[in-house]
Amino acid sequence: MDWNSEILKNVSWPVPISNRKSKQKVAERIASRVVDGDIIGVGSGSTSYLAVLAIAARAREERLHIMALPTSIEMALTCAKMGIPVTSLNENGPDWYFDGADEVDPNRHLIKGRGGAMFKEKLMMSASRQNYIIVDNSKLVEKLGSKFPVPVEVFPDALMHVEAELKKLDAYQIVLRPAQGKDGPVLTENRNLILDAKFENIDRDMEFKIKCITGVIECGLFQNQPAEIIVA
Ligand code: 5RP
Repeated sequence: MDWNSEILKNVSWPVPISNRKSKQKVAERIASRVVDGDIIGVGSGSTSYLAVLAIAARAREERLHIMALPTSIEMALTCAKMGIPVTSLNENGPDWYFDGADEVDPNRHLIKGRGGAMFKEKLMMSASRQNYIIVDNSKLVEKLGSKFPVPVEVFPDALMHVEAELKKLDAYQIVLRPAQGKDGPVLTENRNLILDAKFENIDRDMEFKIKCITGVIECGLFQNQPAEIIVA
């Protein structure tokens, strides 16, 4: 493997919560949907984090018995810390699921995965009867891919193969996502790598085409998962 190649370029990641006020508003809106007995799929990222805090506050005040199905270790720990019992998909299915997104287009197609949790996020969304995407209006785009690359989770041995296949799909820039604050690439919770791929055009079948590449675990394009979009 050539560790000096283009795809190793560093990128930087914002730590504070951007658009916090708007995210707080949608977080409270999603919290108002919770009813006693709900098993709730919990997305990842800062909007989901604020939603967990709002849900936990409601559950505490109104003595609601709920359970969480988190999509990342970070959210599992947040839920546990806030007093929301955590369960697993093999034990309980979600009544409904909420999550943030990086981009939402007019067809309600999404780009997700800045947090690298898209595998469990898509799994949860597929398993859930009702999905809510909670975003501030900075996430609304006319054209998918206009702000963010498409994150692709890759089995480590398949890195160069997947990079070559993404180029065949006309990806014009592919970056191996670096780890924050240390050398080397980021590892997902599944111990895989992430390639962030930029495309000039993302057609209706792009999610399917990327997923067909052997070595791709999951991608952050959500073109086939119906969801209600809640915008602050
Ligand atoms: C994580 C995600 C997040 O939902 C997405 O990145 C939005 O994050 P934030 O709510 O912090 O803006 O897909 O994998």
